[in-house]
Amino acid sequence: MTWRDPIAVMRALIQKAHPYRGLGVPNPVVAAAVIRDGQWVADGVHVRAGCAHAEVLALDQAGDLAQGATLYVTLEPCTHWGKTPPCCDAIISAGIDHVVWAVDDPSPHVRRLPAQCVLEAAGIGVTGGVLADHARFLNPAFHRPQSDAPFITLKLAQSLDGKLALDNGDSAYLTSVSARRYVHQIRNAVDAIVVGAQTVWMDDPELTIRHGVEHGQAPAVIVASRDPNTPKRLCDTRLFAVDRPVYTTTLSTAGITHVQRVNANGILGPSEPISTVWRSPYLLVEGGGAVANQLLQAGVVDELMVMIAPCILGGSRGWGGNSPDALARCLRYSHTHVHQFDDTVMIQGLTGV
Ligand SMILES: NC(=O)c1ccc[n+]([C@@H]2O[C@H](COP(=O)([O-])OP(=O)(O)OC[C@H]3O[C@@H](n4cnc5c(N)ncnc54)[C@H](OP(=O)(O)O)[C@@H]3O)[C@@H](O)[C@H]2O)c1
Repeated sequence: MTWRDPIAVMRALIQKAHPYRGLGVPNPVVAAAVIRDGQWVADGVHVRAGCAHAEVLALDQAGDLAQGATLYVTLEPCTHWGKTPPCCDAIISAGIDHVVWAVDDPSPHVRRLPAQCVLEAAGIGVTGGVLADHARFLNPAFHRPQSDAPFITLKLAQSLDGKLALDNGDSAYLTSVSARRYVHQIRNAVDAIVVGAQTVWMDDPELTIRHGVEHGQAPAVIVASRDPNTPKRLCDTRLFAVDRPVYTTTLSTAGITHVQRVNANGILGPSEPISTVWRSPYLLVEGGGAVANQLLQAGVVDELMVMIAPCILGGSRGWGGNSPDALARCLRYSHTHVHQFDDTVMIQGLTGV
């Protein structure tokens, strides 16, 4: 196979980086490849802060073959000293002829001295913006304005007619196996998953990481409920079948601000700020409809991931909350990306980025 189409190369790099989404926080996950005369010579993925950057990994692996080659990278190369030297210096020393990247690096150092200025001054051709909207989903929190709030991804699986479940509550499983595997990869990138109490009672979900996705500890689970009996009832659910923290929360107009840990005997701990639960800012909300509507209404959903299965469920279990009085006031998402997992279509979109 030859690699002459920049979009094909970038798509392959995004796929390489995707399993590491969220794992390198505070650093973004980045993938890079050296392509020479249509041949894939070398690649690298930057996974964690302090490790070599993707460009440097790929250039080191390529050695002399980097001379006159094209470097592809999912994020604009850095031009400043951080924990490691500027990647642009390494690119120039390696003799790269052309650099193609997907999405611009929003960090102030790079915006003060963009890679284009440094590389063009060294006689290197640059092309930015190749599959930028797709690559943005590798590190969506990194691309949003600075914030202390969690980055909330709302993931829902719906039918063609916008329903999340049958009227009798059955919703397992609407989507294809490959779509579910993708969701398990996304679970691996978060420290906590939020679900509504009704989803727990009706589905008794495991909310673990399966489908062959390599992972560490299962994410914490935060159950939205205002019912004082919920902590005791939770002890009999599968949420306690694995070793991980379980919390309850009350949703407010500010979204999710505090949680209370539930121990294995159903006793509630003190109220703690939500920031105690996560190491990375990523929080995944997996429904159901009532919780989704509350968070959408609170305006705290940063990323929407809607899986659409080719079926009609009918009935009344839709989502989205109240209808605004004008189309101009409906919630709209930007940087949308559409992906297909066998018979399931996923639409991803971002707000406020
Ligand atoms: N297709 C999908 O993607 C998907 C995903 C998840 C679930 N589902 C399906 O959706 C159904 C359940 O969804 P649902 O809409 O009925 O319920 P839900 O969103 O799972 O849970 C609703 C519960 O959330 C709690 N809640 C609501 N507002 C709250 C607030 N302000 N603060 C704290 N807690 C609050 C309440 O619990 P208390 O009553 O305890 O206070 C309420 O009963 C099931 O059939 C499930 O299979 C589908």
